Amino acid sequence: DWTMSSFVDMSVRYLKEKIGDKKVLCALSGGVDSSVSAVLVSKAVGKQLTCIFVDHGLLRKNEADEVEEVFTKKFDVNFIRVNAQQRFYDKLAGVTDPESKRKIIGEEFIRVFEEEAKKIGKVDYLVQGTIYPDVIESGLGKSAVIKSHHNVGGLPDYVDFKEIIEPLRDLFKDEVRRVGLELGMPEHLVYRQPFPGPGLAVRIIGEVTPEKVKILQEADYIYREEIAKAGLDRKISQYFAVLTNLRSVGVMGDERTYDYTVALRAVTTTDFMTAEYVEIPWEVLGRISRKIVNEVKHVNRICYDITGKPPATIEWE
Ligand code: XMP
Repeated sequence: DWTMSSFVDMSVRYLKEKIGDKKVLCALSGGVDSSVSAVLVSKAVGKQLTCIFVDHGLLRKNEADEVEEVFTKKFDVNFIRVNAQQRFYDKLAGVTDPESKRKIIGEEFIRVFEEEAKKIGKVDYLVQGTIYPDVIESGLGKSAVIKSHHNVGGLPDYVDFKEIIEPLRDLFKDEVRRVGLELGMPEHLVYRQPFPGPGLAVRIIGEVTPEKVKILQEADYIYREEIAKAGLDRKISQYFAVLTNLRSVGVMGDERTYDYTVALRAVTTTDFMTAEYVEIPWEVLGRISRKIVNEVKHVNRICYDITGKPPATIEWE
């Protein structure tokens, strides 16, 4: 891919010159844009870049370890993983309102990040994974806020630095992915589907507890694995499991159960403003359903969400 390889060459040359021997900081979310930005900058200035990755305990199964693995084994950066899971769970205890959850997570994220950044001392540059569609969107001014989207990455007020570097601000998403591949990043990272900043907290209806997070992680993992096996993963824009706050009666062996209902969601969309639900074959859905109820404790019922956006949103909260 010579267009992307010349983009990489040009960017690396530019970043080297611009950054010189100064220090750079990056808030890594594990998302495509922040990850590709970080790798690009690391290619230019290596360990002058420090990436801070906050594990808020609301990521998908194995996700935090996968991010750590990539950034510590494959690329030459200073990588700091902050295990802040318990801090977030404590703050979220008893909270049920979706917007309150987002607010709490956003604020706690900044606090954790700020504490870590302080330890590093003064940095000169902050890397952000802004891409071209973000630039356009902010230029137009957002209309009514339906959900306050907390995006990990936008923290300029809280860290002492001189300038923001946005190496991907002229690229569209598919170009960002091609750059990622060009840089040797693994496909699972480059083709990662969008994942909300507040993570599983907005996919657990009602109160978030560590137990519920575990249940959802397991169910969601099975769902994603089976969708990939069925060869559907690249055909769907976003798909995930939701832990509803509904429990219902079931039967297992001779026992009556009273356990959770998991909802499955899969949509196609071009801009995430509107979306259609995907017609996953029954046979695939059936396999997923059986696997989840057999393997995940405290789940005894599976529903498939067949609502478009509008009137529903993609996430359940
Ligand atoms: P909705 O649910 O509003 O989602 O149809 C549209 C897209 O935005 C993502 N989303 C979020 N992303 N922080 C984020 O970073 C959030 O709080 C948040 N809420 C929704 C959602 O996953 C979908 O891709």
